[in-house]
Order: sequence, then structure tokens, then C-alpha cells
Amino acid sequence: MPPGRDEKLDIFFQPIHEAASTIKSFIKKGLFIRVYCHHDADGVSAGGIIGRALGRLGADFRIRVWKQMDDLLLKDLASESPSPCIFIDLGGGYLDIIQEYLKDVNVIILDHHEPSGDPFPSLIHANPHLSGLDGAREVSGSGVSYFVAKSLDSKNVDLSCVAVVGALGDLQDKNEERELKGINATIVRDGIDANVLAVEKDLLFFGRETRPIHRALSLTTNPFIPGLSGHEDQCLGFLVNLGFQLKDGERWRTLAELSKDEKQLLFSKLVEYIVESGSSNSSPLELIGKVYTLIREDKLTFLRDGREFSSLLNACSRTQKTGLALAICLGSRGSTLHEAEAAVEEYRRTLAKYLDWAASDQGNVEETDFCYILRGEKVVDERMIGSVSSILVASNILNPSKPLISIALTEEGMIKVSARASTSLLEKGLNLGTIMQKAAELVNGRGGGHDVAAGALIPVGSEDPFLHETMILLKEVLG
Ligand code: C5P
Ligand code: ZN
Repeated sequence: MPPGRDEKLDIFFQPIHEAASTIKSFIKKGLFIRVYCHHDADGVSAGGIIGRALGRLGADFRIRVWKQMDDLLLKDLASESPSPCIFIDLGGGYLDIIQEYLKDVNVIILDHHEPSGDPFPSLIHANPHLSGLDGAREVSGSGVSYFVAKSLDSKNVDLSCVAVVGALGDLQDKNEERELKGINATIVRDGIDANVLAVEKDLLFFGRETRPIHRALSLTTNPFIPGLSGHEDQCLGFLVNLGFQLKDGERWRTLAELSKDEKQLLFSKLVEYIVESGSSNSSPLELIGKVYTLIREDKLTFLRDGREFSSLLNACSRTQKTGLALAICLGSRGSTLHEAEAAVEEYRRTLAKYLDWAASDQGNVEETDFCYILRGEKVVDERMIGSVSSILVASNILNPSKPLISIALTEEGMIKVSARASTSLLEKGLNLGTIMQKAAELVNGRGGGHDVAAGALIPVGSEDPFLHETMILLKEVLG
């Protein structure tokens, strides 16, 4: 009989407790711990959680943010004295190369990516996939890290809100009402009990604490509202026509400041607008959902709303300011936060430039039988190709029945691939993580990730055979 839910959870928590007791023994022995976390919002949130937990225990450690598990990192680690390593939100899909370089080193992996490769004796691997739980939707890298922190010391429950930020950053709220479910729901409950988090059902505009309402509305692309999404002026006109008070003195009001009545009016008028526009792609119900508020953070800042917090972290890491993102997750505020806010603007400008290019004749997304292809190697920064791809797939520009495969060139002279698909393709059994892994292996590259968001790193010149193999694998599922 396959294991039931309780049994799966038992199996999930075993390596988490083992990781915590092993970390305690490292600290007791005075060992130097080398921590590496993934560079996205979930990864740096996870890094912040483990960093704070280690700091509270007086551990001797260093923490670094890394793009992806690769030979470069492992070679470097293998050349140092063999002290313990903790990989956070990365590494689970790369057990074979980790073993190749670090088989005699104590390695702890806290991850939620599709596992690949064989375990080895000095490895502890905590990963929901290993117990048959859903690593794409019910717990993220920061969730796994949070449970290790909580196992290290129950006082670390105050870090639950950072884990919620990580889960939102990895889009684990792809459920009805954009609710975090499964193991994530346990973390949310911890946050409420620890008085660091509040959850309510509300309008889901992008930028609820920091953006003027018309801008927040125009930045909302889920649901995509024809005529309003992407059109700030039209949004302003729409709100003025409704008689909204948009300013408080000189300052623009934000969604978070609207009264209940104002929000209700706005919602009903938007529903009317969407119904009248006759758009079949947008369901007005998608405007409403669960909002996660970090109640210890200052109001009207980027850190108050969980989704805005994760978008700030994302902006920092995509503009090469991973240190800033990690510092914020470790608790730094003040000038760190100001610098991070500037990164948000830089990110927004750069992203708009790339999206314009992708939609233009030169960038043009190429359509094939089973996917779209975006060749960004001469244009798009490797750190931005994932975001560009996510936005293109979420917008109504592309047909959701085909995934998007995008390509960029890395600083190290490799080809970075980002693959994204709409969740509607899950019904057909699509798993981009395994497809990226198989296609990359065929051309001596490496790939992996999640079912609807995955990636690969392959040698320059191998793009065509790689895309050819990807197409064959996609055809098997979607054909
Ligand atoms: O870089 P990007 O955002 O496109 O990555 C999507 C997902 O695929 C991430 O979760 C990432 O960890 C994974 N990935 C991977 N191996 C790669 C590139 C990406 O596992 N070489
Ligand atoms: Zn993650």
C-alpha cells in the first residue's frame, strides 16, 4: 500500500530533525559551517532563516548566495578544508556531482527541487519529493529550512513569516484564492500563533503597500484585464470616474489604505468592467485572494506584504544585488532597505526593456508545434531570462497550451535555458524539470527544476540539438 499522508509527513520530517541535530553537533565541535543558498527569493529567504538560526546558536559560519549548483562552486568547496556544507534551495537535483567533489564532507541539503542522483553516506537530504509530497506547491526551500530552524530551537517560530515570503516567491500559492496550502499552511499557522503574520481575504493588486492604487491596478496581470493591465493612464481614469480619493495630501494612497467599503466598490466595478469587456481569459474572482501581512514590519513598506517582500528580494537578486536580499532576510533594515528599493526600480526598467524587445519584431517569440522559443542570447541578461519567461507565460500574449523555452548567454560562456509553462498543462502530465534534465544531459549540460518552471545550463553551440530533444520530449506529453 502506498504511504498515507501521516506517513509521508513522518518521512519528510525525519531528515529535518536529523539535519538539526547534526548542525548542533557541528556547533558543539566548533566546526566552521559553509552555507550556500540559491539566489532567488525563496533561496535567500531560506538562507536568511538558516543564517539567523545559526547566529542565534553562536555558530561559526559563512553564508553565500549562488546562482545554481555547478562544477565551479563544487571545485572551489573541494579545494578548501573539508568542513561541513549546507546547500539551501539548491543541490537536490545534483547529488551525483556533489558526491563527486564532496563525498568525504558532511553535506546537508535543504531543498524542494526534483531530486536526482544517488545519496551517499555523509549526506543528509531534506526534500518533500523524497516522501512523495509536492515540492512545487506545498513547501519550498525556505519552508524546509524553517522546519530545520524550528527543530534547532522552538523560539525560531518568529522566522515563519520569512518562510511564507519564500513560498510566495516560488509561486506556491497557485491554489484557489491564492492560498498557501499543505505544509505551507502549517507554517502560516505558526506565523499567526507567533504574532508575526496576519492572513486576510482581500483584493490582490500587485504592490498593495507601496504603489499608488492606479499603478497597482495597472501592474496587476493576474487576471489580465484588457484595457487596464499595463495601462496606468487608463487605470487612473477608471478610478477618477468612480470618484475615488486617490491622494492623501500630496501622497498617493495605496490599496492597503482603502476602507472596506472603498475596496468593495472597487471590486464590484472591476467585475462589471471585466464582464462588459467580454474577455474570456479573465475571471474577476482571481482579483480576490489570501493576503499575507508581516505585521511586525512597518506599514506601507515593501516588507509588510508577503508578495511585495518576495518581489523586492527577486528584484535585488536579478539585478546582481544578492547580498542586499540576503541582508534583508537576515534582518537588516535602514539603508539596506533603501538600496533594495532602488533595485526594484532598476529591475522594473530593465524588465520592461526586455519585454518590449521580446514583443518586437527583432525579439519575436518563435512558435513551433509544441512550444515557443525565445532566443535572448545576444540581448537578455542571464539573471533576467527567468523573470521575462515567467511574465510572458502569465500574460495573454502566448497561447497557454504551449510552454516557453528561453535562452540566454552566461558570464561564464554557457547557455542558460529557462523553461516555463502554464499550470493548465499539468493535467497532461507535463514536467519541465525532467524534460530539461534529460535534454541537457544529452548535450553534456545539466538541467532540472519544477514541473512548470525549470531550467538548464548547456554548452554554447549545443542549442539546436538541445531544442530538438526538448521538442521530442514535449511531443511525447503534449502531442
Ligand atoms: O533560472 P530559472 O528561474 O529559469 O530556473 C527555474 C527553476 O529551474 C529553478 O527552480 C531552478 O533551480 C531550476 N534550474 C535547475 N538547473 C538549472 C537551471 C534551473 O534545476 N541549470
Ligand atoms: Zn525554491
